[in-house]
Amino acid sequence: MARPDYILFDRNTKAIFWNLNRNAIQRMLDYDFIVGRSPSIVAIVAPTQNRKFEKFFHGTKEIMIPIYKSTAEAAEKHPEADVLVNFASFRTAYNVTIEAINIPTIKTIAITAEGIPERFARDMALKAKKAGKVIIGPATVGGIAAGAFRIGNAGGTIENIVKSKLHRPGSVGLVTRSGGLFNELSNVIARNADGIVEGIAIGGDRFPGSDFLDHLLRFQKNPQVKFMIMLGELGGDLEYRVVEALKDGLITKPLIAWCIGTISKHFAGEVQFGHAGAKAGADRETADAKNAALRAAGALVPNSFDEFPDIIRSVYEDLRAKGVIGEIEEPEVPELPEDYAKLVKAGKVRKPTNFICTISDDRGEEATYCGLPISEVIERDFSIADVIGLLWFKRKFPDWASKFIDMVIKVVADHGPCVSGAHNAKVTARAGKDLMSALATGILTIGPRFGGAIDGAAKYFKFAKEQGMDPFEFVDYMKNVEKIPIPGIGHRIKSTKNPDKRVELLKNFAKENFPSTELLDYALEVEKVTTAKKENLILNVDGTIGVLLVDMFRNLGYSDSEIDELINAGAFNAFFVLGRSIGFIGHILDEKRLAMPLYRHPMDDVLYDVKRPEGL
Ligand code: ACO
Ligand code: LMR
Repeated sequence: MARPDYILFDRNTKAIFWNLNRNAIQRMLDYDFIVGRSPSIVAIVAPTQNRKFEKFFHGTKEIMIPIYKSTAEAAEKHPEADVLVNFASFRTAYNVTIEAINIPTIKTIAITAEGIPERFARDMALKAKKAGKVIIGPATVGGIAAGAFRIGNAGGTIENIVKSKLHRPGSVGLVTRSGGLFNELSNVIARNADGIVEGIAIGGDRFPGSDFLDHLLRFQKNPQVKFMIMLGELGGDLEYRVVEALKDGLITKPLIAWCIGTISKHFAGEVQFGHAGAKAGADRETADAKNAALRAAGALVPNSFDEFPDIIRSVYEDLRAKGVIGEIEEPEVPELPEDYAKLVKAGKVRKPTNFICTISDDRGEEATYCGLPISEVIERDFSIADVIGLLWFKRKFPDWASKFIDMVIKVVADHGPCVSGAHNAKVTARAGKDLMSALATGILTIGPRFGGAIDGAAKYFKFAKEQGMDPFEFVDYMKNVEKIPIPGIGHRIKSTKNPDKRVELLKNFAKENFPSTELLDYALEVEKVTTAKKENLILNVDGTIGVLLVDMFRNLGYSDSEIDELINAGAFNAFFVLGRSIGFIGHILDEKRLAMPLYRHPMDDVLYDVKRPEGL
């Protein structure tokens, strides 16, 4: 059913909210919840947001409100919305308003921004009047249709709203300039009468889009409004429009009116009060002059602001006695659920966590690695190996160990384009895949035969040594019991004749810097046995790293079971994964730089042995 034109908002009013102001939107939805209506905001306009929606709460239920790039799009998708809550900044609010005035489905626009230039404010007001639209503001908190619709932050906290009976309609039509006094007065009205039907703060600017009289005339027509209250202020002459309307008999319901700023007469010069419009330029703009004119025209004007409560109470009681105002049944107000984050902060809830993190913390001003702020890591000139120490093993290793880790990363960084992982990364890059996919392909190639034999080498050499196997026994054991090649032994191209320089470097470093190299020494004895069989069955780079990492952790005081835990977790292979990623990335960038085409393997490099199954 169409609303009469004197009703701007009811319980079905739907609004578009301009600007992703999460707090104000949530406050409107909280109001909707406590008055028992459906969410009033159906769309958000935020041109700089790429998100499609934002989540909010309606009570405890999460709802999704769509976000649009323009008011036009939001209005087209939501023709049911006839209110625009314009929370744009003062730089943008004018354009947003002008656009909205021209959108047929939008009837009312509330503008919060302060500081819109006066000529823009006049232009908006003029254009809106011409188009038959209502503007509330600028520079306003907005207003409330009690029990139906709240604009933005009007009314303050939910506690204040309920205390001031703004959650259900009473009998008063209220119009003020200021939002702060709107809240104050709502409270006074709740305590001395039965609350408001609707309250509008027209805003503090000199040229508001709608003024006192516009709203009082609507209240006059609204049968729910039994008496009206206006709180004006010094400056401007908007209150005189009300004086004229009173004289012309356009306002017949009791009107209690007061203009604040009577104190101004005690100042020597012209004083600018809080609002842009609150400055009395001429005598008739003073609060005293306005109060006198309103009184003379028939408004009920107290002698001072302090008398406001008494006069409200007497009008209310009079109308009650006459049967104009009846009893109001107070509705049940559902409790507004508390925000979880707030309760956590106040230490009022506890909840088991799903994840544990013992290595880094991003909650403070600066993230920490194992308790050390990143800036300290930089200031103290920690190496990459030191950072690995902190994040993988939660300690800073002594220099010899850090240097060893650094060397491991350097020597495994690359081994040319022909090794399995690099080849796969290159083929993937040439298939047009992105760097991350090609890198992942390379990393996924790391396994027990290629680069990923470090864990296995550490495990089996350590086991054999712990079991007291001599090198021959160990080689037999691996062949006959485990039935697998010894991880860390053998190489496709390296051999006793073509030794792997990397292995030499690692061994020499360990011999010179490790307190002891027990497992390396054992592995070298095993190597003697395997190379005696075949010259390429050397202790390879994976094997050397594996046994030396065991020696390193032992020298660092790790127990056997702690080392086993690291091996089982894949921590040793991790060094190859990290180091070789450097090389893979290099190969991928190389492919991209050379703009290499799709790779297809030559057919003459494949032995085709395809036979048709018999009988098929
Ligand atoms: N332990 C014991 N015997 C072995 C081993 C080993 N690790 N590797 C090969 N052999 C033996 C084979 O049983 C075979 O013996 P046979 O001739 O008596 O049948 C012979 O050596 C040749 O075997 P191939 O598999 O042909 O050897 P290839 O040179 O092709 O293998 C490879 C090289 C894959 C590295 C192999 O030695 C192996 O699997 N090693 C263990 C895994 C490993 O350490 N990989 C890491 C390599 S380093 C890196 O990728 C960074
Ligand atoms: C490597 O480090 O990738 C090599 O040792 C493996 C290889 O096949 O050369």
